[in-house]
Amino acid sequence: MSITGAALVLFLTFHSIMNIFVIISPEVYDAICHFLGANWYALVGTMGLALLVVVHICYALWLTIQNKMARGANSYQVKARPKGVEWASQNMLVLGVVICGFLCLHLYNFWAKMQLVELMGIINGEEIHVGGAAVVQNLFQSPVYCILYIVWLVALWLHLTHGIWSSLQTLGWSNNTWLPRIKCISNIYATIIMLLFVAIPVYYLIVNLIS
Ligand code: HEM
Repeated sequence: MSITGAALVLFLTFHSIMNIFVIISPEVYDAICHFLGANWYALVGTMGLALLVVVHICYALWLTIQNKMARGANSYQVKARPKGVEWASQNMLVLGVVICGFLCLHLYNFWAKMQLVELMGIINGEEIHVGGAAVVQNLFQSPVYCILYIVWLVALWLHLTHGIWSSLQTLGWSNNTWLPRIKCISNIYATIIMLLFVAIPVYYLIVNLIS
């Protein structure tokens, strides 16, 4: 669970840095999307990523079932959240389900209109290059999509604020001195990733409001 989670955080780091170029320079963004199009290395990456997501979800479900079984029929006698325990840490599965739901919508919005279209082109003997910046700009013309993406990214941020430090702790990179520091670094890291992502729908929301 920790290893797949850490690998997914690495993907998110790359994906958030890559995506900010849609605002900074659409030409550079198109070049990155072209590089990550229907190439063999991009396809290997996509399949690796899909495997990581599936393993992460299966472990999450398995751990939840194990926890429920360990608690027995009566569960906890005291249900109140103890002081110092974050809301996110007790709702990781719910947050995960919300993130997964939005991820399906996201893949339909982008992956199905970009890499999949290019792949279909290869199968049909045509060379198709989809300009990524135009696809992103087009989707965020809709304020509803901007808001939906912001909600998704807040859920992702909550998931990461607990997930990053928790995975580092499970991997053994923590002790009494380092735990508060790791929690602080994790919160900063999750916030940077989230701000890079959220800047995009917020940017288009503002641009569309002004114009
Ligand atoms: C505003 C934020 C985001 C934008 C503009 C964005 C944009 C994109 C685009 C354009 C693609 C298609 C790339 C291609 O097919 O060549 C893509 C793919 C993808 N995105 Fe995002 N993304 C955002 C946030 C996220 C988040 C938060 C996640 C995960 C929770 C995510 C996960 C993925 C995945 C798994 C793929 C498929 C990658 C692959 O084909 O290898 N994205 N995204």
